[in-house]
Amino acid sequence: MITLAMTKIAGHEPVMLDECVDALQVQRGGWYVDCTVGGGGHAAAIMEECSPGGQLIGIDADPGALKMAEKKLKPYGKDVILVNENFKYLENICTRYNFKPVNGVVFDLGMSSLQLEEAGRGFSFRQDSPLDMRFSDSQVLTAADIVNTRSESELAGILHKYGEEQRSRLIAKRIVAGRPLRTTFELSRIVEQAVGGKRGRIHPATKTFQALRIAVNEELENLELALGQAVNLLGSGGRLVVISFHSLEDRLVKGFFRRESQRCICPPEVPACVCNHTPLLRLINKKPLQPSPIEVKANPRSRSARMRVAERV
Ligand SMILES: C[S@@+](CC[C@H](N)C(=O)[O-])C[C@H]1O[C@@H](n2cnc3c(N)ncnc32)[C@H](O)[C@@H]1O
Repeated sequence: MITLAMTKIAGHEPVMLDECVDALQVQRGGWYVDCTVGGGGHAAAIMEECSPGGQLIGIDADPGALKMAEKKLKPYGKDVILVNENFKYLENICTRYNFKPVNGVVFDLGMSSLQLEEAGRGFSFRQDSPLDMRFSDSQVLTAADIVNTRSESELAGILHKYGEEQRSRLIAKRIVAGRPLRTTFELSRIVEQAVGGKRGRIHPATKTFQALRIAVNEELENLELALGQAVNLLGSGGRLVVISFHSLEDRLVKGFFRRESQRCICPPEVPACVCNHTPLLRLINKKPLQPSPIEVKANPRSRSARMRVAERV
């Protein structure tokens, strides 16, 4: 049993930690890939269980996050390899280190509390900072670029698709009228003016900020690319664990898991199967796992977490 206190990194508590290690069925001497190593909380828990002899590749697009992970994972020395790249290159990274087949792959998606709170990153509407929102400073596109250069209809599309924002058109119109927007406070003020004050418990700019972050980092596209590669890396019986934090991610993961675990993926109108699809995954849980009420109380950020688990057949 790994407790939160053992793995807490200043400012970021790894979400569903025990559930993640259980779901991975971490074995001594096993090989694991943490595609979103962040501050290294999940990775440390995995190393604790697979050492001695176990190894882990930890990937993160954010060089600052990787520095934290380096500190946290120092006790495991050469058994941990940290890679500052996008997980969309997952297979390429593992091939480079001759790291295949692996016993488990984990994704803990989105951003960490450290990134959310870090001054200057632009992820939060609660502090004023330039509209950046990039996980990696090697990316070119920022949230300011999107907000200041896209057409009104493109902006509305982004807010609707990635934020599921019902008032996307109204917000987009106000954004275009208020350009140029340079800071998080300028953007959140525009959204508040467009849709009014607080709606229930969530801040009116929540969905707009989520949408822009997803668009800037191409989060859904990269996840789609990486899931297939993760399956290719897993040895027979290896586990794939994905923790997502909003319905768009979870829907994508659910669809992928379902497709890869089915015998036939022909469209319903095809009378007899012609796809010859071979299932590569077995679903471990049909419904996603959720954090315990105790965890949600201790770490409210965990409340939206959903964990899906599948096994390579
Ligand atoms: C929720 S945090 C992970 C926290 C980590 N599990 C821990 O225990 O500290 C998500 C991390 O994934 C990284 N990330 C998000 N998308 C990425 C991508 N496409 N490629 C690489 N890293 C990514 C973010 O930079 C962030 O550090």
